[in-house]
Amino acid sequence: MTIYCYGSINQDHIYALPHRLAPGETLAADSYRVELGGKGANQSVAAARAGAVVHHIGAVGAGGAQSQLAAFGIDVAGVQVVAEATGHAIILLEPGGENSIVIHPGANRALDLDAAKAALDGAEIGDLLLIQNETAHVAEMAEHAMGLGMEVIYSAAPFDAKAAAAVLPFTNMLILNAVEAQQLQDSLGVPFEDLPVETVIVTKGADGASWHARGTPEIHVPAMAAQVVDTTGAGDCFTGALAAALDEVMLPQDAMRFAAAAAGLQVGRKGTAGAMPSRAEIDAALAG
Ligand code: RIB
Repeated sequence: MTIYCYGSINQDHIYALPHRLAPGETLAADSYRVELGGKGANQSVAAARAGAVVHHIGAVGAGGAQSQLAAFGIDVAGVQVVAEATGHAIILLEPGGENSIVIHPGANRALDLDAAKAALDGAEIGDLLLIQNETAHVAEMAEHAMGLGMEVIYSAAPFDAKAAAAVLPFTNMLILNAVEAQQLQDSLGVPFEDLPVETVIVTKGADGASWHARGTPEIHVPAMAAQVVDTTGAGDCFTGALAAALDEVMLPQDAMRFAAAAAGLQVGRKGTAGAMPSRAEIDAALAG
Protein backbone atom coordinates (compact mmCIF):
# COMPACT_ATOMS: atom_id res chain seq x y z
CA MET A 1 0.00 0.00 0.00
CA THR A 2 0.96 3.65 -0.17
CA ILE A 3 1.24 6.38 2.44
CA TYR A 4 0.16 9.86 1.38
CA CYS A 5 1.20 12.73 3.61
CA TYR A 6 -0.58 16.06 3.25
CA GLY A 7 1.57 18.39 5.29
CA SER A 8 3.96 21.22 5.85
CA ILE A 9 7.36 21.63 4.31
CA ASN A 10 9.66 24.02 6.19
CA GLN A 11 13.22 25.11 6.22
CA ASP A 12 14.28 24.65 9.84
CA HIS A 13 16.70 27.25 11.19
CA ILE A 14 18.13 25.52 14.24
CA TYR A 15 20.00 27.48 16.93
CA ALA A 16 21.66 25.45 19.69
CA LEU A 17 21.60 27.64 22.81
CA PRO A 18 23.81 27.44 25.91
CA HIS A 19 20.69 27.78 28.10
CA ARG A 20 16.97 28.53 27.84
CA LEU A 21 16.34 32.03 26.51
CA ALA A 22 14.84 34.33 29.17
CA PRO A 23 12.33 37.09 28.29
CA GLY A 24 14.26 40.17 27.18
CA GLU A 25 17.55 38.29 26.92
CA THR A 26 19.91 38.45 23.90
CA LEU A 27 21.93 35.28 23.53
CA ALA A 28 24.58 34.05 21.09
CA ALA A 29 23.91 30.52 19.80
CA ASP A 30 26.59 27.83 20.12
CA SER A 31 25.77 26.63 16.61
CA TYR A 32 23.38 27.27 13.74
CA ARG A 33 22.28 25.18 10.78
CA VAL A 34 19.44 24.97 8.25
CA GLU A 35 17.74 21.73 7.21
CA LEU A 36 14.52 20.27 5.90
CA GLY A 37 11.68 20.21 8.43
CA GLY A 38 7.98 20.81 8.89
CA LYS A 39 5.77 18.28 10.65
CA GLY A 40 4.49 16.96 7.33
CA ALA A 41 7.89 16.62 5.67
CA ASN A 42 9.33 15.05 8.83
CA GLN A 43 6.54 12.43 8.88
CA SER A 44 7.03 11.68 5.19
CA VAL A 45 10.76 11.20 5.67
CA ALA A 46 10.27 9.07 8.79
CA ALA A 47 7.83 6.78 6.94
CA ALA A 48 10.05 6.54 3.84
CA ARG A 49 13.19 5.82 5.88
CA ALA A 50 11.21 3.14 7.76
CA GLY A 51 10.50 1.41 4.45
CA ALA A 52 7.18 2.79 3.17
CA VAL A 53 6.23 4.06 -0.28
CA VAL A 54 5.40 7.72 0.39
CA HIS A 55 3.78 10.48 -1.67
CA HIS A 56 4.01 13.98 -0.20
CA ILE A 57 1.32 16.59 -0.90
CA GLY A 58 2.16 20.15 0.08
CA ALA A 59 3.48 23.47 -1.17
CA VAL A 60 6.74 25.38 -1.44
CA GLY A 61 7.77 28.73 -2.87
CA ALA A 62 10.12 29.22 -5.79
CA GLY A 63 13.37 27.33 -5.24
CA GLY A 64 11.65 25.35 -2.47
CA ALA A 65 12.57 22.16 -0.73
CA GLN A 66 10.82 19.49 -2.81
CA SER A 67 14.14 18.15 -4.10
CA GLN A 68 15.22 17.54 -0.49
CA LEU A 69 12.12 15.38 0.01
CA ALA A 70 12.72 13.57 -3.28
CA ALA A 71 16.23 12.75 -2.12
CA PHE A 72 14.62 10.45 0.49
CA GLY A 73 12.80 8.56 -2.27
CA ILE A 74 9.50 10.37 -1.68
CA ASP A 75 7.18 11.07 -4.62
CA VAL A 76 6.82 14.87 -4.80
CA ALA A 77 4.45 15.14 -7.79
CA GLY A 78 1.83 16.49 -5.35
CA VAL A 79 4.03 19.33 -4.11
CA GLN A 80 2.76 22.62 -5.52
CA VAL A 81 4.97 25.62 -6.23
CA VAL A 82 3.10 28.75 -5.10
CA ALA A 83 3.76 32.51 -4.95
CA GLU A 84 4.31 32.51 -1.16
CA ALA A 85 7.78 31.72 0.18
CA THR A 86 8.50 28.24 1.51
CA GLY A 87 7.53 27.96 5.18
CA HIS A 88 10.24 28.17 7.78
CA ALA A 89 10.76 27.48 11.44
CA ILE A 90 13.01 29.10 14.03
CA ILE A 91 14.01 26.35 16.43
CA LEU A 92 15.72 27.18 19.72
CA LEU A 93 17.37 24.04 21.03
CA GLU A 94 18.27 23.92 24.71
CA PRO A 95 20.90 21.75 26.40
CA GLY A 96 19.06 18.53 27.33
CA GLY A 97 17.18 18.46 24.04
CA GLU A 98 14.04 20.52 24.72
CA ASN A 99 13.08 23.15 22.18
CA SER A 100 10.91 26.14 21.38
CA ILE A 101 9.65 26.65 17.84
CA VAL A 102 8.23 29.61 15.94
CA ILE A 103 6.87 28.88 12.48
CA HIS A 104 6.13 31.13 9.52
CA PRO A 105 3.61 29.09 7.48
CA GLY A 106 4.21 30.80 4.09
CA ALA A 107 3.45 28.38 1.24
CA ASN A 108 1.95 25.83 3.65
CA ARG A 109 -1.10 28.06 4.04
CA ALA A 110 -1.29 28.98 0.32
CA LEU A 111 -2.10 25.49 -0.99
CA ASP A 112 -4.65 25.05 -3.75
CA LEU A 113 -7.28 22.62 -2.43
CA ASP A 114 -8.38 21.21 -5.79
CA ALA A 115 -4.79 20.46 -6.80
CA ALA A 116 -4.18 18.85 -3.41
CA LYS A 117 -7.28 16.67 -3.78
CA ALA A 118 -6.19 15.70 -7.30
CA ALA A 119 -2.92 14.44 -5.85
CA LEU A 120 -4.98 11.68 -4.18
CA ASP A 121 -6.46 10.50 -7.50
CA GLY A 122 -4.21 7.44 -7.54
CA ALA A 123 -4.96 6.44 -3.96
CA GLU A 124 -6.52 3.04 -3.28
CA ILE A 125 -8.92 1.89 -0.59
CA GLY A 126 -6.91 1.28 2.59
CA ASP A 127 -4.06 3.63 1.71
CA LEU A 128 -3.10 5.94 4.58
CA LEU A 129 -3.29 9.72 4.69
CA LEU A 130 -1.15 11.50 7.29
CA ILE A 131 -2.23 15.04 8.21
CA GLN A 132 -1.22 17.62 10.82
CA ASN A 133 -2.22 21.22 11.65
CA GLU A 134 0.41 23.22 9.77
CA THR A 135 -1.33 23.46 6.38
CA ALA A 136 -4.54 24.99 5.03
CA HIS A 137 -7.59 22.82 4.17
CA VAL A 138 -6.79 19.97 6.58
CA ALA A 139 -10.42 19.03 7.33
CA GLU A 140 -11.36 19.15 3.64
CA MET A 141 -8.49 16.85 2.72
CA ALA A 142 -9.36 14.44 5.53
CA GLU A 143 -13.01 14.33 4.41
CA HIS A 144 -11.96 13.78 0.79
CA ALA A 145 -9.57 10.97 1.73
CA MET A 146 -12.17 9.25 3.90
CA GLY A 147 -14.58 9.45 0.98
CA LEU A 148 -11.99 7.61 -1.13
CA GLY A 149 -11.83 4.83 1.45
CA MET A 150 -8.46 5.88 2.85
CA GLU A 151 -7.49 5.61 6.54
CA VAL A 152 -6.83 9.06 8.00
CA ILE A 153 -4.13 9.46 10.67
CA TYR A 154 -4.22 12.90 12.26
CA SER A 155 -1.52 14.48 14.42
CA ALA A 156 -3.28 17.40 16.11
CA ALA A 157 -0.09 19.46 16.23
CA PRO A 158 0.51 22.31 16.67
CA PHE A 159 -2.61 22.06 18.83
CA ASP A 160 -5.57 24.15 17.67
CA ALA A 161 -8.92 23.35 19.29
CA LYS A 162 -10.98 24.65 16.36
CA ALA A 163 -8.95 22.74 13.79
CA ALA A 164 -9.11 19.56 15.85
CA ALA A 165 -12.90 19.77 16.19
CA ALA A 166 -13.22 20.18 12.40
CA VAL A 167 -10.90 17.28 11.53
CA LEU A 168 -11.97 14.68 14.13
CA PRO A 169 -15.12 13.55 12.23
CA PHE A 170 -12.83 12.51 9.37
CA THR A 171 -10.15 10.84 11.48
CA ASN A 172 -9.58 7.10 11.96
CA MET A 173 -6.53 7.45 14.19
CA LEU A 174 -5.63 10.46 16.31
CA ILE A 175 -2.06 10.90 17.60
CA LEU A 176 -1.38 13.40 20.39
CA ASN A 177 1.32 14.05 22.92
CA ALA A 178 0.28 14.22 26.56
CA VAL A 179 0.02 18.02 26.56
CA GLU A 180 -2.14 18.02 23.41
CA ALA A 181 -4.35 15.26 24.86
CA GLN A 182 -5.02 17.44 27.91
CA GLN A 183 -5.68 20.49 25.72
CA LEU A 184 -8.14 18.49 23.61
CA GLN A 185 -9.98 17.17 26.64
CA ASP A 186 -10.18 20.67 28.11
CA SER A 187 -11.47 22.20 24.87
CA LEU A 188 -14.05 19.49 24.06
CA GLY A 189 -14.99 18.66 27.64
CA VAL A 190 -14.73 14.88 27.11
CA PRO A 191 -11.99 12.40 28.04
CA PHE A 192 -9.99 11.49 24.94
CA GLU A 193 -11.09 7.86 25.36
CA ASP A 194 -14.63 9.05 24.51
CA LEU A 195 -13.70 10.92 21.34
CA PRO A 196 -15.54 9.83 18.18
CA VAL A 197 -12.35 8.29 16.75
CA GLU A 198 -11.55 4.56 16.42
CA THR A 199 -8.03 4.79 17.83
CA VAL A 200 -6.27 7.41 19.93
CA ILE A 201 -2.53 7.23 20.56
CA VAL A 202 -0.88 9.34 23.23
CA THR A 203 2.89 9.80 23.19
CA LYS A 204 4.47 10.61 26.55
CA GLY A 205 8.17 11.17 25.88
CA ALA A 206 10.28 9.20 28.35
CA ASP A 207 7.11 7.48 29.63
CA GLY A 208 6.46 5.76 26.31
CA ALA A 209 3.22 5.74 24.38
CA SER A 210 -0.31 4.30 24.70
CA TRP A 211 -2.75 2.94 22.11
CA HIS A 212 -6.42 3.29 23.02
CA ALA A 213 -8.88 1.58 20.69
CA ARG A 214 -12.53 1.41 21.53
CA GLY A 215 -13.53 -1.92 23.11
CA THR A 216 -9.97 -3.25 23.48
CA PRO A 217 -7.48 -3.03 26.35
CA GLU A 218 -4.93 -0.20 26.30
CA ILE A 219 -1.57 -1.08 24.77
CA HIS A 220 1.39 0.66 26.38
CA VAL A 221 4.95 0.55 25.10
CA PRO A 222 7.93 1.99 27.00
CA ALA A 223 10.22 4.57 25.42
CA MET A 224 13.45 3.16 24.11
CA ALA A 225 16.26 4.17 26.49
CA ALA A 226 18.21 6.88 24.73
CA GLN A 227 20.74 9.59 25.36
CA VAL A 228 18.46 12.50 24.45
CA VAL A 229 20.21 15.29 22.54
CA ASP A 230 17.30 16.80 20.57
CA THR A 231 13.58 16.08 20.91
CA THR A 232 12.61 18.21 17.88
CA GLY A 233 10.54 16.11 15.49
CA ALA A 234 10.35 13.08 17.80
CA GLY A 235 6.56 13.01 17.54
CA ASP A 236 6.80 13.25 13.75
CA CYS A 237 9.26 10.36 13.74
CA PHE A 238 6.92 8.24 15.90
CA THR A 239 3.95 8.98 13.62
CA GLY A 240 5.79 8.35 10.35
CA ALA A 241 7.30 5.10 11.61
CA LEU A 242 3.96 3.96 13.06
CA ALA A 243 2.28 4.61 9.71
CA ALA A 244 4.97 2.59 7.93
CA ALA A 245 4.44 -0.29 10.36
CA LEU A 246 0.65 -0.20 10.03
CA ASP A 247 1.01 -0.03 6.25
CA GLU A 248 2.87 -3.35 6.55
CA VAL A 249 -0.08 -4.66 8.59
CA MET A 250 1.98 -5.12 11.75
CA LEU A 251 -0.11 -5.85 14.83
CA PRO A 252 -0.75 -2.77 17.03
CA GLN A 253 1.68 -3.88 19.76
CA ASP A 254 4.44 -4.50 17.21
CA ALA A 255 3.73 -1.28 15.33
CA MET A 256 3.91 0.70 18.58
CA ARG A 257 7.23 -0.92 19.53
CA PHE A 258 8.55 -0.17 16.04
CA ALA A 259 7.53 3.50 16.32
CA ALA A 260 8.97 3.82 19.84
CA ALA A 261 12.27 2.37 18.65
CA ALA A 262 12.39 4.83 15.75
CA ALA A 263 11.67 7.80 18.03
CA GLY A 264 14.27 6.57 20.53
CA LEU A 265 16.89 6.63 17.80
CA GLN A 266 15.79 10.03 16.49
CA VAL A 267 16.06 11.86 19.84
CA GLY A 268 19.65 10.64 20.12
CA ARG A 269 20.59 12.80 17.12
CA LYS A 270 20.42 16.48 16.33
CA GLY A 271 18.02 17.59 13.61
CA THR A 272 14.58 16.97 12.20
CA ALA A 273 13.98 15.30 8.81
CA GLY A 274 17.67 14.45 8.49
CA ALA A 275 17.66 12.65 11.86
CA MET A 276 14.99 10.07 10.96
CA PRO A 277 16.37 6.52 11.34
CA SER A 278 16.58 3.98 8.54
CA ARG A 279 14.71 0.68 8.53
CA ALA A 280 17.94 -1.18 9.22
CA GLU A 281 18.63 0.99 12.26
CA ILE A 282 15.11 0.45 13.63
CA ASP A 283 15.31 -3.30 13.10
CA ALA A 284 18.71 -3.41 14.81
CA ALA A 285 17.40 -1.43 17.79
CA LEU A 286 14.45 -3.80 18.15
CA ALA A 287 16.70 -6.82 17.90
CA GLY A 288 19.19 -5.45 20.42
O1 RIB B 1 7.79 18.88 14.82
C1 RIB B 1 8.96 19.56 14.48
C2 RIB B 1 8.71 20.51 13.35
O2 RIB B 1 7.84 21.53 13.78
C3 RIB B 1 9.94 21.23 12.83
O3 RIB B 1 10.59 20.53 11.81
C4 RIB B 1 9.41 22.59 12.42
O4 RIB B 1 9.53 22.85 11.06
C5 RIB B 1 7.96 22.63 12.89
O5 RIB B 1 7.08 22.39 11.86
